[in-house]
Amino acid sequence: MSELRENEQKTMLTLEKLGGRSPVAQIVKTSGLAHAAVMRAALSLSTKKLLQIHEQKQTTIALSEEGKQHAEKGLPERRSIRALIKLGGEATVEETVNEAALEEDFTTIASGWLHRKNWVTMKGNMLKTSGEPPMEVDEKLLSLLQEKGSLIIESISKEMKSAAYVLKKRKLIEMDEKTLRELELTDTGWKLVKRGIKAVEEVSQLTPELILSKKWQKVKLRKFDVTAPGPVVYPGKIHPMQEIIQMVREAFLEMGFTEIRGSIVQTAFWNFDALFQPQDHPAREMMDTFYLAQPKEGRLPRKNFVDAVAKTHENGWITGSRGWQYKWGPQEAKKLIMRTHTTAVTIHYLAEHREPPVKVFSVDRIYRNERLDYKHLAELYQIEGIIMDKNVTLRDLIGTLKEFYLKLGLKRVEFWPSYFPYTEPSAQATAYVPELKTWIELCGMGIFRPEVVAPFGIKHPVLAWGGGLERLVMLKLGVDDIRFLYKNDLGWIRRSPVCR
Ligand code: PHE
Repeated sequence: MSELRENEQKTMLTLEKLGGRSPVAQIVKTSGLAHAAVMRAALSLSTKKLLQIHEQKQTTIALSEEGKQHAEKGLPERRSIRALIKLGGEATVEETVNEAALEEDFTTIASGWLHRKNWVTMKGNMLKTSGEPPMEVDEKLLSLLQEKGSLIIESISKEMKSAAYVLKKRKLIEMDEKTLRELELTDTGWKLVKRGIKAVEEVSQLTPELILSKKWQKVKLRKFDVTAPGPVVYPGKIHPMQEIIQMVREAFLEMGFTEIRGSIVQTAFWNFDALFQPQDHPAREMMDTFYLAQPKEGRLPRKNFVDAVAKTHENGWITGSRGWQYKWGPQEAKKLIMRTHTTAVTIHYLAEHREPPVKVFSVDRIYRNERLDYKHLAELYQIEGIIMDKNVTLRDLIGTLKEFYLKLGLKRVEFWPSYFPYTEPSAQATAYVPELKTWIELCGMGIFRPEVVAPFGIKHPVLAWGGGLERLVMLKLGVDDIRFLYKNDLGWIRRSPVCR
């Protein structure tokens, strides 16, 4: 009788019981061994030529979110061709997509595919069709996937397979590739199990008893192979997004800034009026800003602040500006809103800390009434910083931002003129991302106007900047849909490294 290790013996016997060939998952289930233990045994058994490991790739396909939508309503080109027929077989592209009630994102896709599939001819601006084309393979595959949930690509027809790749390019289906492993007893392996295998008992833990009783001299100690694959562990860890927020905090702290936080709900006074945004500014409208329904109003700060802001809006007060030339009213300023930027927090802080130097930052949530898509959220993080000190200039701001973004791993940062109602000069910082071969916007920046600082009695220049965080995070984490950061996709969270 030959001797094998315990797990090797179990694997061999299980394999015998399962008829000599079986997928690893089945062996794990029948033997009660851990997956890693079976694989370890299989590797050493295969070097002893007692079994063979067969590997096979298996690709599962399933509908993406967009694919599900199309499976239900029909592909955009199908909806368009039906609309075109409804319009009498001849109409402009605009009329057709209107009739089809296509979502804006799908209109160019629809006309592209109408042509590629040869479903229409084009005369000038007119689309023309002679009748509804029969269902094509890609559509059949979509509805099959809708019905079954998923399919194994290796087991579908050749036409379906190539349709699957096209649909994948269109981002309508997702593919998941796995390697399936099967173990098979070799002839030598069969002979061995027929003769009977005895398992050597191995000791894997040296206990005080073994040492005291001197039994350690007799038992067989298990050899450890530190290079052997072990089970995957998913330790508890900080969410990748929070980890990057922490990195941003550290960058600020290293540069001598102190963190401040303010309330999410603010009066329009701090969010807009204090920043010299006139009361009819478009950003204040419902479609950009969330107003609170209950309670509707908050309290304004002390009278001399409010009066000075009012006069500055109306005629410029002592600032040398002409103001916005309208009648400022407290009603609009009292309204409670979800802050649309963290500048509401920094100006409030400055109003209460007028002695230089002030060097503070915030990394916090802001809210905007946006339609959600792959690059817009209604709730997002903003990074914001201010420096108030004697004689600081735009150069200091540029230098600070260069250093700050460099710390976050961006190499080429450049500055362009821009506009904000509360800064002069105003600029924006962008960074070149070599991996994407493109520039991304980092933040808005500038020096607070006299119209902003004078009403609060701030005597020295204030350098300010603020920008989104999610884009930076997406870049760092390689995510191309912003919604992903908040989806709590456990698979993705597990896969992302613990430390960066
Ligand atoms: N508050 C601006 C925004 O939300 C950014 C900004 C902050 C611009 C400070 C200039 C100064 O986009």
